[in-house]
Amino acid sequence: MSWVSKYYDRRVAAGAQKGLFWQVGHTEQGRPISSEQFAVMLDSLGQVLQLGPGSSLLDLCCGNGVFTRQLAAGVQRAVGVDFSPAMIAVARAECAAPNLTYQVVDVKRIPPQLAGQGKFDRILMNAALQHFSLAEFRTLLTRLLQISTPDRVIVFAFVPNAARRTEFDRRLKPGLALRLRRLFRRDLVTHWYHQDDVRRICDELGLRVRFRDPDPAIAGAWYRHDIVIEA
Ligand SMILES: C[S@@+](CC[C@H](N)C(=O)[O-])C[C@H]1O[C@@H](n2cnc3c(N)ncnc32)[C@H](O)[C@@H]1O
Repeated sequence: MSWVSKYYDRRVAAGAQKGLFWQVGHTEQGRPISSEQFAVMLDSLGQVLQLGPGSSLLDLCCGNGVFTRQLAAGVQRAVGVDFSPAMIAVARAECAAPNLTYQVVDVKRIPPQLAGQGKFDRILMNAALQHFSLAEFRTLLTRLLQISTPDRVIVFAFVPNAARRTEFDRRLKPGLALRLRRLFRRDLVTHWYHQDDVRRICDELGLRVRFRDPDPAIAGAWYRHDIVIEA
């Protein structure tokens, strides 16, 4: 079990009173985002994914399912996967829907049985690509191609934008604790993504990619970007 999954398991335990947004780290100055901010994020994800009543949605690193449940309402079927057993337990208990299943899966090792569920035409990873290196991102994409249909839309949303990292550090002024966590690769925002790197990988795999800035109304949007891969 990785330190990241243990971290999220602990966060579920600590966040029982603080609510679903806090558990998955959707916070502003340590407090859960407002329901208005959640609505903006949800709307933006729904739009970019181009969901429809016939869609099959795979939500990678779905956390406690707070987004998955809402997105599932607009599709035929949805599957949410996360490697934190505690997150998946909350998802099953609090964010269930008749057309939605949750599985404990390490997305770095997507197992073939997900393919056994049929193919997906919509794939989302929201606010989690920071836990994947560029090499892991490339490997993941090749696996996603095997379990998705040719008309796929794959969205990696809320990804730390490497072009904004200097400004992020200038505003945050990382203290010793954060500098040490970064040194030992224990910083939660471990991987920052350059658009040129993503474009090169997508070119190699024959994929069409575009980038967009998340709605500035969302806390933390200014140093992130969305990666949108479309047929
Ligand atoms: C910041 S939370 C976001 C959760 C959800 N996508 C959302 O937006 O509410 C990041 C999630 O990624 C999950 N995660 C990180 N690395 C993972 C991996 N290799 N496999 C599966 N889940 C992973 C964590 O357990 C955590 O639930």
